[in-house]
Amino acid sequence: MGGRSLIRLVEVGPRDGLQNEKQFVPTAAKIAFINELSASGVREIEAGAFVSQKAVPQLSDSGEVFKKIRRRKGVTYAALVPNEQGLDRAFAARAEKIAVFTAASESFNRNNINATIAESLERFKPVIRRAKSEKLPVRGYVSTALYCPYEGPVSPKKVVAVAASLLDLGVDEVSIGDTIGKAAPRDVRRLLDAVLRTVPAQKIFLHFHDTFGMAIANALTAWGEYGITGFDASAGGLGGCPYAPGASGNVATENLLYALKASGARAPAGPEPFYRAAQKVIALLGRAPVPKPF
Ligand code: HMG
Ligand code: MG
Repeated sequence: MGGRSLIRLVEVGPRDGLQNEKQFVPTAAKIAFINELSASGVREIEAGAFVSQKAVPQLSDSGEVFKKIRRRKGVTYAALVPNEQGLDRAFAARAEKIAVFTAASESFNRNNINATIAESLERFKPVIRRAKSEKLPVRGYVSTALYCPYEGPVSPKKVVAVAASLLDLGVDEVSIGDTIGKAAPRDVRRLLDAVLRTVPAQKIFLHFHDTFGMAIANALTAWGEYGITGFDASAGGLGGCPYAPGASGNVATENLLYALKASGARAPAGPEPFYRAAQKVIALLGRAPVPKPF
């Protein structure tokens, strides 16, 4: 069922990948990482976050990063924005797309952005309105869509409700996240059976973390059985959410592209550039390289 539609890949390594590293990755290394990823063929890179610098000090330099990256034609440079203060910073940095973020579970949302789901949606109203008036596309994240680190399994009904609210507010797409990487294909089927009743597949991105090594199986299930073509991934499998205890990195972009291509999907890029770009960051973080027989 996956078909030959082009995979819509969002590279989130520079944001989700680097936000959870204990070590602050120097600004110049972030810029070099993004510049290298820009040449991979990927069409969208989440390059930073304009969140509270106390909440995520690792990305406190996003303004400078956006200012200094070499923007490649055909690549959209997006940023996470939690509120109007973040939007002002995103405008100043000339972010080309913004992403607001909420969750399907109340406890995670409280820990992550200090708001109930309803309060966060209210907070997004002026953010989305102002972004749209500047012609910026807007993504809406629904985190903890399968499991919450505090509440356990999450009902697909909650995801459907939050996704519908975000779309009503005017987001162009929803990225549905397995924030703690606990889902298996059966959970993904249950979720997509519900979500696809109201949200068109073209507006959906899936955002898998890989804590239990299930992310590839989940992505292939979504692509092969449901025709989902939108996926987020992080070069080298870097990443995690500092407010989701136990969450490991996102699915590695290189592994996702390998798996999708090997299964017959049409992908915008090959795996090697993501692998190579990530190895430099991994070396900088003092970790052992991840060998691959390219
Ligand atoms: P709060 O404390 O309720 O906010 O935090 P506040 O409005 O009361 O402000 C508190 C302080 O933060 C003030 O500074 C504000 O100026 C400052 P002070 O007066 O104390 O010096 N502040 C800001 N500074 C810079 N930029 C801003 C901003 N907003 C306030 N935009 C808030 C609420 C949402 C701000 C905070 O909780 C926050 O920034 N949270 C972000 C957490 C985060 O980034 N988490 C990781 C990303 S989400 C994720 O990883 C999941 C995802 O990958 C999908 C998935 O895996 O499921 C997307
Ligand atoms: Mg994430």
